[in-house]
Amino acid sequence: MTQEIYLTGITTTGTPHIGNYVGAIRPGIAASKDPKKQNYYFLADFHALAKNEDPDKISRSTLEIAAAWMALGLDTDHATFYRQSDIPEITELTWVLTSMTAKGLMNRAHSYKAAVQVNVESGNNDPDKGITMALYSYPVLMAADILMFKSTKVPVGRDQKQHVEMARDIAQRFNHHYGDILVLPEPVIGDDTAVLAGLDGRKMSKSYNNAIPLFAQEKPLRKLIMKIKTNSLEPGEPKDTEGSTIFDMYKAFATPAETAEVEKLYAEGIAWGEMKQKLFEYINDHIKPAREKYERLIADPAVVEAELRKGADRARDVAVPYMAEIRDAIGIRKLG
Ligand code: TRP
Repeated sequence: MTQEIYLTGITTTGTPHIGNYVGAIRPGIAASKDPKKQNYYFLADFHALAKNEDPDKISRSTLEIAAAWMALGLDTDHATFYRQSDIPEITELTWVLTSMTAKGLMNRAHSYKAAVQVNVESGNNDPDKGITMALYSYPVLMAADILMFKSTKVPVGRDQKQHVEMARDIAQRFNHHYGDILVLPEPVIGDDTAVLAGLDGRKMSKSYNNAIPLFAQEKPLRKLIMKIKTNSLEPGEPKDTEGSTIFDMYKAFATPAETAEVEKLYAEGIAWGEMKQKLFEYINDHIKPAREKYERLIADPAVVEAELRKGADRARDVAVPYMAEIRDAIGIRKLG
């Protein structure tokens, strides 16, 4: 059997939060240390453009996300860790795939449809108002990310599943025209327990403004944890662990034995304030060593840059010859 190739991208918008850590970074780092798995992780900075971010924010987010993965111990000798924009073959492949992508397929993308829906609901007479071609073609760039490295497995959140299926459709159409060149990928959807709620109880997300930054300093970290929404049960009243954001967060960090302890405390009616203090102390102790490394990296971005260059060189060792093969297959050739 051929080896599975895992690949996943992180859009460079925003600061890494504890939801990202539990849902993507921590499992990604564990996989990077598994000698049986071949992994690609990259910073999807061209994808960030579709969201019309401020240039300084994109650049800052790239540094913060890369530094977070490095500080938490990503094995960059084993996994290939790079920045999308450092691999010109990806953008080149994007155009080639664009010529193999049905416009109707893009019309059906959830992300595009959601943007249209917002316009329609706000009574706009142009349903495409404010929608760029980057947003519309977002799945084609994502298909190029995936197909460039012959990925077989693509770990993504549920919201991205359709995009991976589109990459598969596009690859199939390409292969039908040009021969068996592209490898068909499959999405790998993480289980729902890996989704953490934020301060207000909804899914933790930068767009809901309810996130706890992974490397917040002690004081702001405590302040944010104290803000997590709870019910109004008094100290001494038994509390349900189910549906408790504080419990879920604790569980996401703690060992099963420690979690069982906390279950007991809930049954005994621990006060919310006390439980929040306990959660703060646990997360703070857990994160502290990585936070120190993270701060050193943020203060010395050249170290992060060098790591990304190393990853880009490795990625291009694969992308350059493969792109040459693809060019030849489609008739973009030297004339003699
Ligand atoms: N679109 C993904 C997201 O927003 C990020 C991404 C870009 C990605 N390219 C990818 C994920 C390729 C997996 C594979 O989460």
